[in-house]
Amino acid sequence: MAAFKININGKTETVDVDPQTPLLWVLRDHLKLVGTKYGCGIAQCGACTVHLNGSAVRSCQLPISAVQENQVTTIEGLSENGDHPVQQAWLEVDVPQCGYCQAGQIMTASALLKENPNPNDEDIETAMNGNICRCGTYTRIKAAIKTAASKTQSA
Ligand code: FES
Ligand code: FES
Repeated sequence: MAAFKININGKTETVDVDPQTPLLWVLRDHLKLVGTKYGCGIAQCGACTVHLNGSAVRSCQLPISAVQENQVTTIEGLSENGDHPVQQAWLEVDVPQCGYCQAGQIMTASALLKENPNPNDEDIETAMNGNICRCGTYTRIKAAIKTAASKTQSA
């Protein structure tokens, strides 16, 4: 066990865990930030996606010892009131079905738009490729990303 100071959603948190503990379990079990989901545990589904310095990463495969001074953002910290353009677009397009994969989808989509504010179909498919949705909401996800892109551009 070791004490790690990490920056999550703009706050510094200290956790006492094994250095190999995946960030996902620190978030869910130690900090009770349960919006980030466990799907596969092997970086293959995207349910556990969070941002590390604004880029999408799989928290199930990121040991807490590798987080260091980097800024972690979870779905809880993406916006203050759930009003990030991607979250607004998700509501408008009514994307979720069961909802389980959706925090990961939103975190990947918001990282994409930060990097590329006007993605074409291929950009969206490439960026979202690793985020699995068992309910098959892919068509609505793509539509919502386009909606979010136009909101961001007109803002
Ligand atoms: S739980 Fe991390 S990618 Fe599936
Ligand atoms: S909405 Fe059910 S898994 Fe994606």
